[in-house]
Amino acid sequence: MTIHTTPDLSRDVTVTFDPAPLPAHFTWGVATSAYQIEGAWNADGKGPSIWDTFSHTPGKVRRGDAGDVACDHYHRWPGDLDLLHDLGVNAYRFSVSWPRVLPDGHGRVNAAGLAFYDRLVDGLLERGVTPWLTLYHWDLPQALQERGGWAARDTARHFEAYAEVLARTLGDRVKRWITHNEPWVTALVGYRYGSFAPGVRDAQAGMDAVHHVLLSHGLATRALRAHVPDAKVGVSLSLSPVHPASDADDDRAAAERFDAYYNRIFLDPLLRGAYPDGLFDRLGGIEPTILDGDLDLASTPLDFLGVNYYYRKVVRATPGEGELDLQEVRLPDTTFSNLDMEVYPDGLRELLVRLHEDYRPKSIVITENGLSLPDEPDDAGEVNDEDRARYIAAHLASAEAARRAGVPVDGYFVWSLLDNFEWAYGYEPRLGLVYVDYGSQRRTVKRSGRWYHDLVARHRAAHAGKVP
Ligand code: FCB
Repeated sequence: MTIHTTPDLSRDVTVTFDPAPLPAHFTWGVATSAYQIEGAWNADGKGPSIWDTFSHTPGKVRRGDAGDVACDHYHRWPGDLDLLHDLGVNAYRFSVSWPRVLPDGHGRVNAAGLAFYDRLVDGLLERGVTPWLTLYHWDLPQALQERGGWAARDTARHFEAYAEVLARTLGDRVKRWITHNEPWVTALVGYRYGSFAPGVRDAQAGMDAVHHVLLSHGLATRALRAHVPDAKVGVSLSLSPVHPASDADDDRAAAERFDAYYNRIFLDPLLRGAYPDGLFDRLGGIEPTILDGDLDLASTPLDFLGVNYYYRKVVRATPGEGELDLQEVRLPDTTFSNLDMEVYPDGLRELLVRLHEDYRPKSIVITENGLSLPDEPDDAGEVNDEDRARYIAAHLASAEAARRAGVPVDGYFVWSLLDNFEWAYGYEPRLGLVYVDYGSQRRTVKRSGRWYHDLVARHRAAHAGKVP
């Protein structure tokens, strides 16, 4: 195998963050997900996923974009793994497409699909990169959606069986497992609000999905541990500090209500074995069916908590207007990305400290953080995304401040390795450390990628006892 090294990867480092105080074992990674990069949506026996169906439905995704080809990673993976090597990261978080492995969601295994991930894992290990495998990053087999998807309890059992297939095949080499990516989005954006696949708008289905995702997490965690005794298993939640728009009591109470709905709805069952008190009442009395033992399963101890952090939430009270009687607002003098996400680095420190104080997870890994910019190469073909490097540096400083306050933060993954299909927003938002020209599929390491490379190298050098 040849690993090509881009010679000029370490130019232009102008953004400063000193990584030396981070511990030697710190994980430096980049993240992707299957539907967003793989393409090959119907190749080699893959079954359709809910995202194939959704993005092929007119009006669901901006400009009619779909993940049919995406970054063509399914065919270009060796070059993409070389990019990881060039970036110098020691970890890669990717997800497996469930319908590539099990086209009907259960039963028959598609050997060709499984072989793709088998090669990918070997390719990572050959390059000295630790695989962090996410089982579910939103691409449910369409066949299971026909049976109710996450609103159906059986889906949790099918997920357990899918986890077992992967554990048996890859568990000798993959030791870091993430069951679910952002269950809030899976369940509530997918089934309650319907703006993401499968596009269901039904309050009851949303709450059922919340519960079944939690149940499936517990079942899969136990299955993984049964087959891979040295597995480290976690889950990645999208979390945000919630601030009141003012000091007024009703705004503060609104922030607490929203925190229960947005953060604690998953944190509490996972780490305390109970849903937040009064949550279902405040959501119109709609609750899932909870059977004996469900919450014990959901709260199966985690080896690490994955935190995906992008923004804070700010809310004000709107008494009597329903949906928790509040409204999200923008404070003056705040900055938002072109994905409508507030840039608020200190929120990461606040969030990490709060998680440690309230829940004491053994270990916290930032499994996603990154910035969308309207990147374009200049005349020399360079992508000068210094703002992205600044954004990452500021969030790392925030994570480091949390570490100094005693929070066990053990790793950080940039979202994302590559520009890719940004769900209902299509290809316009770009979040990669590597620019993708979708016409030619040419990859160009951005300035932020070179900067990240140097940062990781400086950390390594600091721990080898010498500064470069
Ligand atoms: C997260 C998703 C990830 C990507 C980023 C920008 O919510 O997990 O797939 O879309 O947002």
